[in-house]
Amino acid sequence: MASQTLSPGIFPENYRFLQQQVYSQVGIVLADDKHYLFESRLGPIVKQLGLASVNDLCAFLHKEQNAEIAKQVTEAMTTNETYFFRDPAQYEIIRTTLLPKLMEEKRATRSLRFWSAASSTGQEAYSLAMLLLEERMQSWNIEILGTDFSSKVVERARSAIYEQIEVNRGLPTSLLVKYFNRSGMEWKLNEVVKRMARFEHIDLRNSLSALGPFDLVFCRNVMIYFDAETKRNIMKGLHSTLFRGGWLLLGGAETVFGLDEWFERKAIGNSTVYIAR
Ligand SMILES: C[S@@+](CC[C@H](N)C(=O)[O-])C[C@H]1O[C@@H](n2cnc3c(N)ncnc32)[C@H](O)[C@@H]1O
Repeated sequence: MASQTLSPGIFPENYRFLQQQVYSQVGIVLADDKHYLFESRLGPIVKQLGLASVNDLCAFLHKEQNAEIAKQVTEAMTTNETYFFRDPAQYEIIRTTLLPKLMEEKRATRSLRFWSAASSTGQEAYSLAMLLLEERMQSWNIEILGTDFSSKVVERARSAIYEQIEVNRGLPTSLLVKYFNRSGMEWKLNEVVKRMARFEHIDLRNSLSALGPFDLVFCRNVMIYFDAETKRNIMKGLHSTLFRGGWLLLGGAETVFGLDEWFERKAIGNSTVYIAR
């Protein structure tokens, strides 16, 4: 029988090292059974460095102390899944409840500030921009900030260029035709929408208060990756960036309890809104 060399997999000490590395760099907790995830996500970095395995990559990180590769490893382990108008019920309550309220409250300044915290490749921020244009708010002073830990996704968000598969997800055809221009296999967002949002590299675990005040903060589908203490600190930080009465929206399936001192939790339609006290 032909002998077969089985890959030893990630050694336990290397697995722990990678878990710690990701936790200390971005706050994400990766469980003990994510070997496949590490192998598949770190494979391209292993290859790029001409190494043979994730174990070799760990040895490289120990030996070289290379900050750039360490960052690449952490970024590879973040999940950047996003799409246009994700969780449409939330955009609907922004349209029907939040915007009429803000138009009334802010009619003197006509200035509104929005933040897509953990914006990934920008679909969340640009969906909001398109919604505001559809609601004929172009004469208002509107600022949309998108931020993410990963510089790679921040660069992509800034480019505002999307692949066919990305515009097929969640974006109504009418808005695709109205706000995007086709360029070969890709779609470029037009300048009017693009200029409404700007993107920065920000770690949510850092002090956030200087970014505010905002009327609405999206912090969706990222809290699930953090431990209880990190979640609580981030929620406190997000609160510090909101106007009193400003809205925080978490992911449709996310709930954070024990925040009554900072937020009133309110069900509007089928969604839950966290209103800053
Ligand atoms: C799953 S995506 C969510 C994107 C978008 N909010 C949505 O719901 O469609 C999560 C994003 O959170 C970012 N992220 C993870 N940890 C972070 C941290 N500590 N600070 C800032 N961004 C972080 C990741 O880089 C990733 O792009």
